[in-house]
Amino acid sequence: MKVYLGGEAEVRIHENEVEKIRRQKRYRILELDEILRKSRTKTEAKIISIARRNGVPTPLILDVDGDKIVMERIKGEPVKMVMNTEVSREIGRMVAKLHRKGIIHGDITPMNLILSDNRIFFIDFGLSFIEDRVEPKGVDLHVYFESLKASFDNWRELREAFIEGYREYGGTEDVLIRLQQIEERGRYIERVEQTG
Ligand SMILES: Nc1ncnc2c1ncn2[C@@H]1O[C@H](COP(=O)(O)OP(=O)(O)O)[C@@H](O)[C@H]1O
Ligand SMILES: [Mg+2]
Repeated sequence: MKVYLGGEAEVRIHENEVEKIRRQKRYRILELDEILRKSRTKTEAKIISIARRNGVPTPLILDVDGDKIVMERIKGEPVKMVMNTEVSREIGRMVAKLHRKGIIHGDITPMNLILSDNRIFFIDFGLSFIEDRVEPKGVDLHVYFESLKASFDNWRELREAFIEGYREYGGTEDVLIRLQQIEERGRYIERVEQTG
């Protein structure tokens, strides 16, 4: 068994199953923390299932118990290891499907995607929520593009391929326009930080 200790969760990888246990936040009052962890865990499991029903590959949920999700283990390669324009285009298509259902993933990065059986599995819905507005959708894309910049020299073509896939599956122009505005806000903040 392999164990990942992230900021939010402890993830235990077994041969065919994965247990994801949301960790206690010590700065929060214990009873409140317990309530929040349980409700976040429920939401995460629910959104994983909704995504799957709508044609976005996600692990099958086997059990939800308090702050723990037991799910199918997806055997494949983290997208980080196998990224190319075809992969990025397919990610764009799947994100469009999520957005059409009002699902914001919240953490689309190459470590939270697994290529298995020629399909892209979305695995980490720990920050996801349902909201049918342009702003969080734009932020969703922004997070993905920032993660591309951090990891790949050819991030520009990966980004273009993603946008093509996103449009192909019904991703809307208002989201792409908002993305541009979000990026301009980011550049403005960078300039202010540089010049004081
Ligand atoms: N269902 C799964 N199948 C295979 N690997 C998984 C699965 N869920 C998580 N993992 C692995 O565990 C890591 C951490 O899980 P993740 O859900 O991303 O937790 P965190 O919120 O701590 O990032 C992932 O990057 C992935 O490598
Ligand atoms: Mg993760």
